[in-house]
Amino acid sequence: MTTAQKPELYRDLARQLAALIAGEQNPIANAANMAALIYHGLPNLNWAGFYFRSGAELVLGPFQGKPACVRIPVGKGVCGTAAARASTVLVPDEHDFPGHIACDPNSRSELVVPLIEDDSVFGVLDLDSPLPARFDELDREGCEQLVALFVVHYRKYPRGKW
Ligand code: SME
Repeated sequence: MTTAQKPELYRDLARQLAALIAGEQNPIANAANMAALIYHGLPNLNWAGFYFRSGAELVLGPFQGKPACVRIPVGKGVCGTAAARASTVLVPDEHDFPGHIACDPNSRSELVVPLIEDDSVFGVLDLDSPLPARFDELDREGCEQLVALFVVHYRKYPRGKW
């Protein structure tokens, strides 16, 4: 995929995501469809999915790919770092990220976007690739926009429906 094609691909994914979640309030169902949309819509991924915060840990949520680590302490690994910083973490090469948690040794690069509501991180979206340097700034922007759609929708509905 060329750099020129990425923004259009993310626009298309955003349109599809908006349509997928529009009629549904359940965040697990919406996260599951979002993980599937991303996993099958973006090339060269070996994992795409969510972790949701439970106290001082992130707990595995809906995903596509191989079975993964279930609990990650906030502050640990790439996911826990993104949650602790409340900002996106882009890792071009896992070998260069001390403390990276290797759920799948084939993963070589990673992009983690936090889910933030009222200044509080309630989860992360995690994308892994077997290719080094798979993710760039266009992927960061595109995935942050997809996460923003999910979070805006999530905020519209009261809790207690999980
Ligand atoms: N590599 C992640 C762990 C989650 S898996 O990649 C699905 C991390 O370091 O937080």
